[in-house]
Amino acid sequence: MKPARFQEKFGPYALVAGGSVGLGAAFAEGIARRGVNLVLVARQETRLKETAARLRETYDVDVVPLAMDLADIDDVRKRVGALDVSIGLLVYDAAFSPIGLFEDTSEEDLALAVAVNVEAPLLLTKLLSAPMIERGRGGVILMSSLAGGQGSSTIATYAATKSFNAILAEGLWKELKPHGVDVLACCAGAVLTPGYLKAEKVKPAPGALEAPVVAERTLNALSRGRGPIFIPGATNKVGRFVLTRLLTRRAAVRTISKNTGGLS
Ligand SMILES: NC(=O)c1ccc[n+]([C@@H]2O[C@H](COP(=O)([O-])OP(=O)(O)OC[C@H]3O[C@@H](n4cnc5c(N)ncnc54)[C@H](OP(=O)(O)O)[C@@H]3O)[C@@H](O)[C@H]2O)c1
Repeated sequence: MKPARFQEKFGPYALVAGGSVGLGAAFAEGIARRGVNLVLVARQETRLKETAARLRETYDVDVVPLAMDLADIDDVRKRVGALDVSIGLLVYDAAFSPIGLFEDTSEEDLALAVAVNVEAPLLLTKLLSAPMIERGRGGVILMSSLAGGQGSSTIATYAATKSFNAILAEGLWKELKPHGVDVLACCAGAVLTPGYLKAEKVKPAPGALEAPVVAERTLNALSRGRGPIFIPGATNKVGRFVLTRLLTRRAAVRTISKNTGGLS
């Protein structure tokens, strides 16, 4: 899709939740390159403002940094409701991944995973899709993961939250398409981001991709109406097919758990 058409369909502003670093920053850059203004959300204000300034200077777009904690649902409702710009694209990228055995994970961390990975994307999709429906155009990208295709030991809660996002995107893709709003879940495999490199102490998984590659392919998939599920990378496509279509659920859970067992 040409930048002018992208701006018309998904502009004038896109909101990237978790847009200061890693994959979210790559999404923000891909969107800015297409000439759409941005609202970037993250907690660490200095890093957020640095990313906003860089994109503003490089791409000559307006970038509004919104420093807030997406786990604070009431604050999200208030601050996003008070925005005086029109959002045509939501990218929900932020996530909290409690890694470790369920029995060792605190109730606070479980609640945080549900707030950041489930409640906040649900609320933002609700708040921002309503005006998109009214305008008859727009888009929503929810970050899911290959981990959301089946359960896995040591990331059981994270995997379940990623499954929620993929299933939500499927239903909304069908519901919102007639209103001109495209919905897509990106089920990425390993992406070389600061978050991944911190968690993954061994060498990156096969088929690991750089964040700008994932962001660019996902934005192109959205532009081409390739929802509801997009899997970046051939290795990941094969992996998902094997795990969700060829193997029994038990075998899939055992196989993926071998790969997630080393995470800490
Ligand atoms: N990396 C992978 O291998 C991989 C694979 C499959 C799927 N994914 C998915 O891709 C997405 C991005 O992953 P990533 O590795 O790029 O993550 P990351 O490097 O940890 O970056 C996360 C971004 O979200 C922000 N953020 C995190 N918690 C937040 C909160 N409570 N409130 C506001 N902002 C918050 C962070 O900024 P602050 O810290 O300043 O808040 C940062 O901008 C996630 O949804 C993840 O599940 C990643």
